[in-house]
Parts: sequence; C-alpha cells; structure tokens
Amino acid sequence: MEPSKSINDNQPVLRDHVYDGIQEYDQKLPNWWLFTWYICIIWFVIAWFIYYQMGKGLSDIEKIDAAIAVVEASRAKALESVDDEKLWAMSKDPKIVAAGEATYKTTCVACHGPDLSAHIAGVKLPGLPLNDKEWKHGHNPTQVLTLVRKGAPDLTKGMPPWEPQLGIGRVIEVVAFVLSKHDVNETFTLAADSPLKGGAAPAPAPAAAPAAPKAGGS
Ligand code: HEC
Repeated sequence: MEPSKSINDNQPVLRDHVYDGIQEYDQKLPNWWLFTWYICIIWFVIAWFIYYQMGKGLSDIEKIDAAIAVVEASRAKALESVDDEKLWAMSKDPKIVAAGEATYKTTCVACHGPDLSAHIAGVKLPGLPLNDKEWKHGHNPTQVLTLVRKGAPDLTKGMPPWEPQLGIGRVIEVVAFVLSKHDVNETFTLAADSPLKGGAAPAPAPAAAPAAPKAGGS
C-alpha cells in the first residue's frame, strides 16, 4: 500500500488558528457522507423540476382530497347496503351499540335525555322520547336513519341533521344504539302530529298543524 497523504490518513489535521485555546479540525468528510449529500442535491433538482416546473405529482391538499374521496365512496357504499334488516342486526352487535352509545352521550343526550325519555330529573327536554313506542317520523330503522342523517323534515322543530357533523358511520352506529332499545316485533303508533299520518293517500295540508313560527320569534 502506498503511503497515504496526511489528510486521508485518519490522522487529525488541525488548522493553525487558535481561539480561546481551541483549535479546529480540518478533516476530509467521509465518502459515504459526501455521496449522500450529492445525491440529495441531485434529487432536489429532479424533484424541484418535476414537482414545481412540470406540475406533476399531487399537492398535500390533493392527496387529502383523494383520501377523503375514498372514505366518502366507501361510506356511500356502506349506506347503499344498509337496510332495515342490517340495522336491526347492528342493534344486536355490542361493539356497534357501544360506539353508538358513546356518540349518543356526547351528541344527543342534551335533547333526548340520558335514558332516551327526553326527560331529565322530571324536566322535559326539547327532543322526543326515543325509548317509547310512539314515533313521529317512522319506526322503521331506515326511517330513523334518514331522520337522524337529515334532521326533521321541519328543521325549525329543533332536530338538526347529523350526517354533516358525525359522518354516516357514526350516524349508523347511533341509530343502532337507539334501535337496541327496541324490538323488531314491537307494535308502535304514529304520533298525532306525525307528517306520515294518512297512510297511502298523502294527507292534505293538515289543518291542525301548528302555526308557522310567529313573526319576531327568531
Ligand atoms: C337540539 C336538540 C336535539 C338534539 C341534540 C338531537 N335531537 Fe333528535 N329530535 C329533536 C327534536 C326537537 C325532535 C322532534 C322533531 C319533530 O318534532 O319533528 C327530534 C326527533 C328525533 C327523532 C325522531 C323521533 C320520532 O318520534 O320519530 C330521532 C330518531 C332522533 N331525534 C334522534 C336523535 C339522535 C340519534 C340524536 C343525536 C345524534 C339527536 N336526535 C339529537 C331534538 C334534538
């Protein structure tokens, strides 16, 4: 082996200047380090050109949008495949019901009460009881689901749409939780003020409907 030059010799080379008694090393950087560095520089030029000059590749926002689109598509699919039978089945699945109960406790309890009776300590809450056999907007699981997703047909009644806030997955869970308090075969009645009353023949504008909100009421 030929004698290597001092700078490559792994011998510490010290620079001449001294500052506060401290001297500076003057070593050659290791090749692996230098090559990593050169590759970074080359990669930067390529990436900069492709990404910023040619406009190829997705921005972070586009990537997030794409990911959300995938989630939304799978949710839309989940919704398509949901029917009364499946919702009843979910209402028997302890995991789904527990998840729905958690959502209920944070989102619905204020108006429908901790025991779904729409009362708390004897005080009536704004919502309707969800544990009784009387339904205003239909007792079929898919009817309940639609109502919770989209809110009451007359939003001024105070039941807001929940799908925008919770997403379809959590809405389905919370409906499964409500259904877990019911039974497939239970008999139900429609509330006197139900918009569904009248059976097949759509009811004419109900004369007894509560008057429109009074002017100045808002
Ligand atoms: C701000 C108060 C409020 C909150 C919060 C609320 N609701 Fe309601 N809910 C109402 C009111 C008021 C009605 C009655 C609407 C009507 O009279 O048309 C209602 C009606 C319903 C009905 C229909 C009952 C029937 O007899 O047909 C269901 C089901 C329901 N809510 C479920 C839920 C669920 C599930 C949540 C939580 C995700 C929730 N609600 C959160 C106020 C609320």
